[in-house]
Amino acid sequence: MSQDDRMQKIVSLCKRRGFVFQSSEIYGGLKSAYDYGPLGVELKRNLMNAWWRDMVASREDVVGLDASIIMHPKVWQASGHLAGFSDPLVDCQVCKERFRADHAPLVEEGTALTMEFADKGRAKTALGVALQLLGEDSDVTLERRGKELIGATAGDRGYVCPNCQSPWLSEERQFNLMFRSSIGPIDSLSAVASAIESGAFDGLSGRDLRTKLDGLAKESAVYLRPETAQAMFVQFVNVQQSMSMKVPFGIAQMGKSFRNEITTEHFIFRSCEFEQMEMEFFCEPGTDDEWMDYWSNARIEWWRKFANNPEKFRLRAHEPEELAHYAKGCFDIEYDYAWGWGELEGIANRTDYDLQKHTQHSGQKLQYFDPHTQKKYVPFVIEPAAGATRGVLVYLDDAYTEEELTDAQGRTSTRVVLKLHPQLAPVKVAVLPLVKKNGMPEKGREIVQGFLAKGIAASYDEQHAIGKRYRRHDEIGTPFCLTVDGQTLEDDTITIRDRDTMEQRRIPMAEAIAEVEALLKG
Ligand code: GAP
Repeated sequence: MSQDDRMQKIVSLCKRRGFVFQSSEIYGGLKSAYDYGPLGVELKRNLMNAWWRDMVASREDVVGLDASIIMHPKVWQASGHLAGFSDPLVDCQVCKERFRADHAPLVEEGTALTMEFADKGRAKTALGVALQLLGEDSDVTLERRGKELIGATAGDRGYVCPNCQSPWLSEERQFNLMFRSSIGPIDSLSAVASAIESGAFDGLSGRDLRTKLDGLAKESAVYLRPETAQAMFVQFVNVQQSMSMKVPFGIAQMGKSFRNEITTEHFIFRSCEFEQMEMEFFCEPGTDDEWMDYWSNARIEWWRKFANNPEKFRLRAHEPEELAHYAKGCFDIEYDYAWGWGELEGIANRTDYDLQKHTQHSGQKLQYFDPHTQKKYVPFVIEPAAGATRGVLVYLDDAYTEEELTDAQGRTSTRVVLKLHPQLAPVKVAVLPLVKKNGMPEKGREIVQGFLAKGIAASYDEQHAIGKRYRRHDEIGTPFCLTVDGQTLEDDTITIRDRDTMEQRRIPMAEAIAEVEALLKG
């Protein structure tokens, strides 16, 4: 099975079984927006709850925060997001694809590309357009001229169009990723209308008009946060003083972030609305390298803990030229996705950059007084910043398994199993009466109620033949199935089936909850 096929199968399982749906599907869908269905929301919550438990609840040195998504616009001025949070945007002049220059396929300077357009027709159109652009005679044989042209131009940029490999591209433009909205009764359109009426734009055109319009829009603008991190810097003093926290300590937050991504890709990997799990760990300058080591190791271990294939996670140090302007050092935790290694979490040494910037812009001192040394200083920050929705994709991929089975008659079939870690599985235990009569449904429902009362996600399922029900629960990753059968009515025992081994054994019904609880704990 190719990696593309595998990804397609995961996407279709997500829809078929209620993990992830295309947003607004009945209206044709909204590009790159997704809804988490009944099982997806449980999987995402289980992942985020595990993060909160391990990063906040079980630690004395980290506290939580749940800040507003819309913050004062000056926050984004201070953080540098308004001026610099942009991607280089390019249009292909052949196929019209709009893409990020920094994600485009690279070609070495001077390399003569061979034509690799998806089909001859497209190649012909591409060359026609190219010749037109160059104002050349289109009588020249397209194939021959095409190769010469590509050889001549491909190296100029160092990259080509990711869709059709053409090197004929527009200039790069910087595109800000922040989602802009306005607060209060005056939106930017009303402000523009009033300005036109008052004659404020008279005589303006071109760049001057654009600058004036942009300035007006910014006056009432607010932004959807592009990361959860900034609230932790802005509230540093409030949190530290209200909780009497001693450096080193962390502030953690998880929740939605928004980026107007130019290229949304790979299902939920990159979307415009997504969830993050971030923690800002404030430490004394000089101890930051040590904490960087600590957090990068702790974080990769955390992701591996829930994985079937821990070798598919790796730590990669950023090259100096890759580093964000605020970072002294950065590690990415990468996962080996269907399309290759890509980011899942970044652990950055942000130094005192953010606290200093917010101090400059707000006029409020964001510093720490050490009661032991009697010294004041601005702490350094180590930031483990993870994608929660990206984590869902990672664990779906890690869990998706196809097994060939042969029955007693020698017939083969394929079993699809989501080998999700029990802590992440949306349903922990399914209770299945063998038939819908003879008191079995009543016993089954009684067992389910027992689990639900204990806070264990249990599901009662009586539709279809028992084999089909097992397969359904394998596909959604339910670790254990309990079956009520004829013998249950005689001796109050039930069978427990393990998702991964498919082994079944009998246990007393009265011990079902304790048994499953112990198995879930591992
Ligand atoms: N505060 C630092 C920060 O936001 P980032 O590397 O831009 O760093 C952290 O984001 C994590 O958020 C990424 O590693 C990724 O998992 C997730 N993420 C970022 N942009 C995303 C998007 N458009 N869609 C889904 N997840 C995204």
